[in-house]
Amino acid sequence: MTIGHETVSLGEHVTIIRGDCCAVLRDMGADSADAVIGDPPYESNMHKAKAGARGGKVASDLEVGRTPRRNARNALKTLDFSSVESIRPKVTPLMVKVSRGWLIAFCTPEGVAPWRDAIEDAEAKYKRACAWVKPDAPPQFNGQGPAMGVEMFVAAWCGKGHSRWNGGGKRGVYTCLTNAPDRDGRHPTEKPVALMREILRDFTNPGDMVLDPFMGSGTTGIACILEGRRFVGVESDPKYFAIARERIEWILDPAGPVDRRRARSVWRAGSGAADGDDLLARLDT
Ligand SMILES: C[S@@+](CC[C@H](N)C(=O)[O-])C[C@H]1O[C@@H](n2cnc3c(N)ncnc32)[C@H](O)[C@@H]1O
Repeated sequence: MTIGHETVSLGEHVTIIRGDCCAVLRDMGADSADAVIGDPPYESNMHKAKAGARGGKVASDLEVGRTPRRNARNALKTLDFSSVESIRPKVTPLMVKVSRGWLIAFCTPEGVAPWRDAIEDAEAKYKRACAWVKPDAPPQFNGQGPAMGVEMFVAAWCGKGHSRWNGGGKRGVYTCLTNAPDRDGRHPTEKPVALMREILRDFTNPGDMVLDPFMGSGTTGIACILEGRRFVGVESDPKYFAIARERIEWILDPAGPVDRRRARSVWRAGSGAADGDDLLARLDT
């Protein structure tokens, strides 16, 4: 695809690209994805808060509503990528160009208005700010004010005609544990697989091609595989690209080594039994 980038096909329906998403999306044709679902870097206020929290030591866990985890021993402790402000004006028109359906972008509550403005500047239809409620968000340790218990995502329609989704009259509120048992823990802002699966079911259809320009450790790709969507993910950082590749290969490989705890965790995190049964069947053979 894009010269100078590493493109890896993982099976028939998954492609991951190591490189700058702006360069990659510039080379993609208009309307080439059914949906663009991205988890871009946070706004700079969050980056600053994280750098300052507890002297920057375990900022990534504490400030975005995450409890330090048992398996976090090797996790990277601070956000080692730039905040979104510099990239948002460049990437938004490209995401709008590529999507023929929904554009979803995660952000802080403070990021909703700038994302709405960028989306409208790119001539897509801004529809709603949705909330991810985190029941396991930690308290505000210094007691000086309310703790952060939600993260937001904006939903915009880039397709023709009226927007369409599978949620009927459902509210745009998603309640999901941050520290579910299937959490990998090596990326400082990893999303829960269960959250991404619910979003995919609401905003996309089986067989759809979903593009994640900020793939990180590949959670959206895993959710796509479990929900029967095709996936293209882009990540600029080689170490996160490698983690995404490893996690996706683990989910895809029916003959690969299966770890009982992780398989059961994936099953618990999903809403449908089908993929969990499949994973557990692999354990029994
Ligand atoms: C919020 S994280 C995504 C985490 C992901 N949802 C997960 O579950 O692991 C954003 C990611 O975007 C990557 N990134 C930042 N700028 C980028 C760019 N220009 N192109 C591609 N990836 C970029 C960062 O390295 C980071 O891993």
